[in-house]
Amino acid sequence: MPSALDAQPVVAGSANCLVVDDEPGVRRSLARMLQAQGFQCFEAGTGLEALDLLERIGETPLIVSDMRMPELDGIGFLEAVRRRYPDTSVIMLTGLSDTTTAVDCLHLGAADFLLKPISMNELQARVTRALEKRTLVLQNRYYQENLERRVHEQSQRIQELFLQGVQMLARALEAKDAYTRGHSIRVSRYAVATARRMGFQGALLDGIRLGGELHDIGKIGTRESVLHKPGSLTAEEFRQISEHPLLGERMLSPLARESPDVLRIVRSHHERLDGRGFPDGLRGDMIPIEARIVAVADAFDAMTTRRPYRDSRPPDQAMEELRRVAGTQLDPEAVEAFVAAHPHPERLPLSA
Ligand SMILES: [Fe+2]
Repeated sequence: MPSALDAQPVVAGSANCLVVDDEPGVRRSLARMLQAQGFQCFEAGTGLEALDLLERIGETPLIVSDMRMPELDGIGFLEAVRRRYPDTSVIMLTGLSDTTTAVDCLHLGAADFLLKPISMNELQARVTRALEKRTLVLQNRYYQENLERRVHEQSQRIQELFLQGVQMLARALEAKDAYTRGHSIRVSRYAVATARRMGFQGALLDGIRLGGELHDIGKIGTRESVLHKPGSLTAEEFRQISEHPLLGERMLSPLARESPDVLRIVRSHHERLDGRGFPDGLRGDMIPIEARIVAVADAFDAMTTRRPYRDSRPPDQAMEELRRVAGTQLDPEAVEAFVAAHPHPERLPLSA
């Protein structure tokens, strides 16, 4: 015949709960009430025993614990549970004389407290409320994390689309000009091989790859008559072409937060070690290392490709020239790494 307990509503499914009380009679009675509510109940006689048990069975959604216990009292037990199992709802049981401590328990993160003697209805109502609150907290956290992840994914996607756009632009820009066709991709490859030789890896290498590809993107703002002029440039024409690093940096500003190294390359790839470069006239180590690496790759590709104003040089001669200007124009370490990374320059695919 079903008992009165069997008729109680089940709200917890088969979730685990832990009852901690040093009086076996009280503990059993609490466990029966909670079983009637649908919990699978574990029992412990002290706080220490309860922590050992939790180690074995893992986190439980609900713990109902007495305040006064030997070895580890309710407060100590509550603190340990909050530290190790922050998502567990803990309901503390107190006598009338313990109400001040009960309030302390709430401050320490207890979900609720119950005054003894405990009625079944009261216990069930408090347990239901504590678990609803727990569910809301967990759902809230899940939504928040999920939202953050989605926002992150979307901003990455926006950045990808932006990048695809500027990469296409860089290629379109070069495709119009037989002299520079494939220049950016080759510079990117040379720079990556050089950087790898210097110990760069992972995201740093990715930045150099992209920076090499986009280093001249600002030339989109330079008039073609200046870009393709066969003879030497007037001061005004030189001023115009010298603006491309800054213009490129402005164009790529959406990458500033995620890929600041790319912007450094674009801005500083025409700096020289002796301070006579542009746009900032930086000297030596003041020039970002990524830009010093790309500058070597850029110089090599410029020399080994035919330009409107001069013929190309054979790769071995271009290597010699890199070494000649190492220390004044180019970074000697980057030049040596470039040379070491390309032991067979005669086999390089010099034009795409
Ligand atoms: Fe450039």
